[in-house]
Amino acid sequence: MDLAVVGAGHVGLVTAACFAEMGHHVIAVDSDTARIDALRQGQMPFYEPDMEPLVRKHLASRRLVLTTSIAEGVSSAQLIFICVGTPQRPDGSADLSAVEHVVRDIAQHLTAYRVIIEKSTVPVETGHWIERTLKLHTKNHAEFDVASNPEFLREGSAVRDLLHPDRVVIGVASERAKRLLLELYTPLNVPVIVTDVKSAELIKHASNAFLSMKISYMNAMAQVCERVGADVTKVAEGMGLDPRIGRSFLNAGVGFGGFCFPKDLDAFIHIAEQVGYDFTLLKAVRQINEDQKRHFVRRIEATLWVLSDKTIGVLGLAFKPGTDDLRYAPAIDIIQGLCQAGATVKAYDPQAMDAANSLFCGLPVTLCQDPYAVAEGADCLAVVTEWPEFRQLDYRRIQSLLRTPIIVDGRNLLDPAAVRACGLQYVGIGRENPPA
Ligand code: UGA
Repeated sequence: MDLAVVGAGHVGLVTAACFAEMGHHVIAVDSDTARIDALRQGQMPFYEPDMEPLVRKHLASRRLVLTTSIAEGVSSAQLIFICVGTPQRPDGSADLSAVEHVVRDIAQHLTAYRVIIEKSTVPVETGHWIERTLKLHTKNHAEFDVASNPEFLREGSAVRDLLHPDRVVIGVASERAKRLLLELYTPLNVPVIVTDVKSAELIKHASNAFLSMKISYMNAMAQVCERVGADVTKVAEGMGLDPRIGRSFLNAGVGFGGFCFPKDLDAFIHIAEQVGYDFTLLKAVRQINEDQKRHFVRRIEATLWVLSDKTIGVLGLAFKPGTDDLRYAPAIDIIQGLCQAGATVKAYDPQAMDAANSLFCGLPVTLCQDPYAVAEGADCLAVVTEWPEFRQLDYRRIQSLLRTPIIVDGRNLLDPAAVRACGLQYVGIGRENPPA
């Protein structure tokens, strides 16, 4: 099929490359000329595992074409996916100006039947506004349908998530759009939920809010575990074996971050408020998440007694492993908290060093080349992102490099017994308390 994907960001670029991999012909449109030029040279705008080879492969096969012209996309593709950003406004709601702009642009060039599909995470009823805008701005009464096809891609595994999804959600108002979208996803051979546009829009926000709730639930549970001396990882294990609960997203830690959960949670709380519902449950989810970052700083403090004039080595900056994304990363608030308390920070991340370079201007933060340089002379090593390679470090060497041999593991990544066997003190989240 001939497709256009508007927006070559984290969602759009992966979507375009994967649709090409599924055998479709894709035009990826982005208004950022520099980004399109760089992509044409084979330079990726961000790190996402497995994406680069796919983009290169399909630029070469010509199944993926890059352009800055929406007109080009609209003229040749029957399905047009909107994948532009929906950043947060100061009141927590989603800023839909990029979506509106793209829709007006599409309307200018619409001459024959097209399906315009929202893939970006948008508030319920955005489909209605897209339809209204298209009607207002389409000059020659060209036919169109508006559909919702939310993405469930996780950064770090987005290519796999798109090519092997648990489900595909399609929100449509016409048989014609339904038929085309079903045809698009036929190669994947996975369960497809077909529903109305509003329900599809809600499925995305409801899913992200629910996953955030699971995490905050376990972070609250971790607080109880710390107070009674229980182990939250064991609690999660015991709960997770119940198929009604499931083990995933029950990992307590320093809180969730990234450009999806925190912003989507705020947006969903705002949407509920606008339709007259006070979603107190989700407000608590948000509050627990904010508290958890401060709690981690307090836990480091409780271990060292005083933070002032101490050096804290931070392992991991990205909001999660497998990405260089620092947006809403818990590491930022944590490092700021440590510095405010008078500590100096040394930090390392396997992917996010470039992005971090300008982030901590004016703060006593040094970025190091590797985890051992972080440990050298530090009073404590704090694990903030659960990169699997941090499990493989030589902890005997770390022990010899640290000024005081203490690890505070904000992700419960390490095996406490193995770390202790290397002569280190170990403190986790919801387990292994600081010495009284
Ligand atoms: C999330 C959703 O998982 C995707 O399904 C969705 O498509 C995407 O948002 C989106 O809206 O575009 P993502 O933000 O990439 O994906 O990352 P997740 O893997 O969901 O992790 C989010 C945060 O939760 C990370 O900071 C992670 O460290 C944290 N987390 C996750 C925990 O603290 N505990 C857990 O048990 C799981």
